[in-house]
Amino acid sequence: MSSNPEPHFTWSDRFLLGHGAMDDTHREFVDIVGAMLAAPDGKLAALLDDFLVHAERHFEDERKWMLATEFPAAQCHIDEHNAVLASVHEVRALLAGGGHEATCRALARELSRWFPGHADYMDASLAQWLVKKRMGGIPVVLRRTGAASAAPAK
Ligand SMILES: [Fe+2]
Ligand SMILES: [Fe+2]
Repeated sequence: MSSNPEPHFTWSDRFLLGHGAMDDTHREFVDIVGAMLAAPDGKLAALLDDFLVHAERHFEDERKWMLATEFPAAQCHIDEHNAVLASVHEVRALLAGGGHEATCRALARELSRWFPGHADYMDASLAQWLVKKRMGGIPVVLRRTGAASAAPAK
């Protein structure tokens, strides 16, 4: 087990984008990556498998939504997802060979750094696009700070 405590990565309402299914998926992303950061070595392989199952569904849902609604910036969003999946597969293979727990933790740290920017930029534009298509307006996001605001325009 690592003797150095890993930084926390926990859900915050600042990640809410106003699209229910996407927000639920993003909560799951944060939960699994947070668990990877805090896990002992022996649990990392199982958590990485959980993360892969999660990420494949997460990214496929977003891909389907983009294609179904002809989202204009779909390809660069899909490329980012594919880069994440490639890294996960690579680390999974290393971990299966044994002795690469530090690499797996580094991946979890990288994912915790990647997610806020990706969600703020790419997923937020998609969430706005999807809600606009469905309701004819951009989502109003209610965060627990009490302030209601429209999601920032991208
Ligand atoms: Fe996402
Ligand atoms: Fe995404």
